Amino acid sequence: MPDWIRLAAASECPPGGSIERVVAGRVVALANVDGTWHAIDGLCPHQGGPLGTGHLCGTTLTCPWHGWQFDVVTGRHKLSATVRQMVHEVCERDGEVFVRFVDAAAPGREAVS
Ligand code: FES
Repeated sequence: MPDWIRLAAASECPPGGSIERVVAGRVVALANVDGTWHAIDGLCPHQGGPLGTGHLCGTTLTCPWHGWQFDVVTGRHKLSATVRQMVHEVCERDGEVFVRFVDAAAPGREAVS
């Protein structure tokens, strides 16, 4: 089982916000939806935009470059059923947020057909 990796201090990402972090060579978009953490692959599949620096509204994260939108709970694109970001396990302990890449052997985003 992959290890938990520290992403950020919880205080760095207040409720309703998202941030970008690079850990273990991977870009992660961390979102705080009313106190519940979600982590998805942070590179937008459109042209590589930084999803974590986009705008979060509810569970919808909007890419700052061209506006593609993803649900941070499922990783799914809001309009296309064939585009999906990988969703990672995330937890908070003692004010720190950790991620675990369950696909550690196969990094990158996943397309659903
Ligand atoms: S790079 Fe994200 S919408 Fe274009």
